[in-house]
Amino acid sequence: MPKVTYIAHNGKTTTVDVPNKHSVMEGAVKNGIDGIVAECGGACMCATCHVYVDPAWLDKLEPIAEDQEEMLGVTAAERKPNSRLSCQIVMRPEYDGLVVLMPDRQT
Ligand code: FES
Repeated sequence: MPKVTYIAHNGKTTTVDVPNKHSVMEGAVKNGIDGIVAECGGACMCATCHVYVDPAWLDKLEPIAEDQEEMLGVTAAERKPNSRLSCQIVMRPEYDGLVVLMPDRQT
């Protein structure tokens, strides 16, 4: 099962297994990892699952779809080039080892 490492804003690092076809957001919520709120439950309608993807992984991810692009425009924390919505990153074997950082706030 692929692993994802979540780095909280305070530096706390947690690595968990996230099954293929589950989102990075789901991996955080199911493992009780703070820093991802996910108000809309993964429907790409809230932007409270905002993460900063480790730059080393950016090229490996799917391009940002239009609905995600729209929601990235309303994140609570600053949007950066490596900003993504974690509900829109769906795990696959190649994502094993993915690292994401959580912003200082989601709302
Ligand atoms: Fe709401 Fe990702 S959980 S946009």
